[in-house]
Amino acid sequence: MARGVTYIGGTLLLFFRSCTIVALGWGTMRERTFCIIKPDAMLARQEGKIIDALLGAGFDIVQMRLVRLDRATAERFYEVHRGKPFWSELVELMTSGPIVAMVLEGENGVAALRRLVGATNPRQAERGTLRRRFGTSTTRNALHAADSAGNAAVESSLFFAPEEME
Ligand code: CMP
Repeated sequence: MARGVTYIGGTLLLFFRSCTIVALGWGTMRERTFCIIKPDAMLARQEGKIIDALLGAGFDIVQMRLVRLDRATAERFYEVHRGKPFWSELVELMTSGPIVAMVLEGENGVAALRRLVGATNPRQAERGTLRRRFGTSTTRNALHAADSAGNAAVESSLFFAPEEME
């Protein structure tokens, strides 16, 4: 009997400890995401300010690379948009000059980066967001930010080898 009570007591203690750990960590999660500084922002020499804003917002840079996209890679990256009215303009932009590809990590990284980057159309983006500050049109909107953790992983893998992201 005494053993049974000890067992139940121990199980309950473990359960409540787990609850405390879950409650303490509730709502916060270090998460990786993926970001590109687009050629329009690079041409305007705004990459320094953008990286500064990302660091200021608490993101860690896990990987970063200056790349010139060829047409095939740009088309692969934006495959889901193929055939849309802005497709050609988008591929033209993305191959027009160097970009900075970055793997970032932060608290709730995907959502936090999307918030910081702002709406696709810079004119509709909230004040203080990066697209509002540095974008000039819906296509030339300064940055790309992954829309999910899954897509962030796929997009990161187009630019960085697995061992570069350990
Ligand atoms: P990005 O977040 O990189 O994802 C797709 C890109 O297509 C988008 O940012 C814009 O640069 C571009 N684009 C141009 N027009 C549109 C549109 N009407 N809707 C969505 N994306 C657009």
